[in-house]
Amino acid sequence: MKIILLGASGSIGSQTLELLEKYKNKWDLHGFSVGNRVEKIHEILSKFDKVKYICVKNKGDYLKLKKQFPNIKFYYGDEGLIKLINSNKNAYVLNALVGFVGLKPTLKALNNNQTVLLANKESIVCGGDLIKDLLKKGKGKIIPIDSEHVAIAKCLYGHDINEVESITITASGGPFYFLGKDEFKNIKLEDALNHPTWKMGNKITIDSATLVNKTFEIIEAFYLFDMPLEKINVVVDRKSYVHGFVKFKDGSVTLNVSKPSMLGPIDYALNLGIPSNGQFEDLEQNTLDKYELLPLDKEKFSVINNANTVILNKGTSGTILNAANEKLVNLFLNKRINFLLIYEFIDKIMNTTRFEKSRNYSQLKKIDSQIKERIEEELKNGSFINK
Ligand SMILES: NC(=O)c1ccc[n+]([C@@H]2O[C@H](COP(=O)([O-])OP(=O)(O)OC[C@H]3O[C@@H](n4cnc5c(N)ncnc54)[C@H](OP(=O)(O)O)[C@@H]3O)[C@@H](O)[C@H]2O)c1
Repeated sequence: MKIILLGASGSIGSQTLELLEKYKNKWDLHGFSVGNRVEKIHEILSKFDKVKYICVKNKGDYLKLKKQFPNIKFYYGDEGLIKLINSNKNAYVLNALVGFVGLKPTLKALNNNQTVLLANKESIVCGGDLIKDLLKKGKGKIIPIDSEHVAIAKCLYGHDINEVESITITASGGPFYFLGKDEFKNIKLEDALNHPTWKMGNKITIDSATLVNKTFEIIEAFYLFDMPLEKINVVVDRKSYVHGFVKFKDGSVTLNVSKPSMLGPIDYALNLGIPSNGQFEDLEQNTLDKYELLPLDKEKFSVINNANTVILNKGTSGTILNAANEKLVNLFLNKRINFLLIYEFIDKIMNTTRFEKSRNYSQLKKIDSQIKERIEEELKNGSFINK
C-alpha cells in the first residue's frame, strides 16, 4: 500500500517515519511534504527509496531541490500539497500538518475518495461540516491519530454507537493546572513550552497549556463519533495514562490506558483502525493503582466553553476560533503578546464575529485570513492592549 505523508519533518511526521521503517513490507512511502525544514529530505530519502514526489513550502527551496534530486518530482506551496495528493489517488494520506494549512489537503483527499489518517485536528475544527458532507457523499474515510480519539475508537471497537451512554476524553491539564488564574499573567514562553507529559510540536504544546487543544478535541469527538455535546466529557489525568473511556448503556465502562506516546495512536492509524498486537512499552503492573482522575476547572480554563459555541453554531465558527488561536499562538511564540492575551483575544473575536453556514473551502480560507489580519491590525494600532 502506498502512503503520502504530509508534515514529515514534524513531531508526528518523524514518529510516523519511525514506524514506516518497521512496516516496509506493508507500506511504501510514495511521497511526503516538509515545510521549512528541507534539511530533513536527505535523511528521509536515505531511508525510503520508493519516494517519487516531495512538496516543500517555499519556491526558493523547490528550485534548488529539483536540481539536486532530478529523479524526484518536486512541488511547492499550498497548491503543491494538493498536487502531491493527486500524484496517486489510490494512496493513503497521513495528514500531520499543523494548523489551517491542513484543511485543504484533507478535503481534497476525501474528495478523491482517499483514506485520511488524520493528526491535523484543525481540519475538523475548521471544516467539520464540509468533511461530514464529503464522508456522507463519497468513499473517503478518516482514521484519527489524536490519542484521545484513538482511545475512544479502541473502546468502541466491536460495539455499535447506539450502545454508548457517554464518552470521556482526558486532558493532562497542562503545566498550569494548579496555577491560580491571577498568576497567568506571569507565565513565560519557556514555562508554556514545558509540557508535563507529552513532547510535541510547539503549537500544540501551547494549545495544551491554554487548554485550547482540549477545546479542539471536544469538537473533533463531536464530528468523529456523532456524539451529542452533552455526552462528551473531559476529565484530567495528570500522568496521561488514561486517554479516554466509554460508558455503555448497560452500565459498564471501557477504559484505554497506556504510556503517553504517540507511537501507539499512529500505529493504530497505520493498521487502518484495527487495534494491533501491542509492540510498545507496557505500563508497569501496578499502574491501575496509580491513576487518578480529576475534574477540569472550566472557570479557570473557560476557553473550553468555545467547544460548545462551535458545536452549537457549527458553520464558520470553528474556522473563526481556530484562526484567532493560530494567530495568537504564533504571536505568543514570537514573544509579541503575553499568555493571557490569547484568552482575551479569543473571547473578543468569538463574541464579535458573525457565524455563517460553511459553504466551501474558499469561504473558510477568506475568513481565516480576515481574522488573522484583524488581530494583527488591532495589535499594531493598540486597540488591544498587551498588558
Ligand atoms: N505532536 C503530537 O504529539 C500530536 C498529538 C496529537 C495531535 N497532534 C496534531 O498533529 C498535527 C501536527 O502536530 P506536530 O506536533 O507534529 O506539529 P509540528 O511538529 O509543528 O509539525 C508540523 C509539520 O507541518 C509542517 N508545516 C507547518 N506549516 C506548514 C505550511 N504552511 N506548509 C507546509 N508545511 C507546513 C511543518 O514543516 P516544517 O517544520 O518543516 O516547517 C511540519 O512538518 C497538529 O494538528 C497537532 O495538533 C500532534
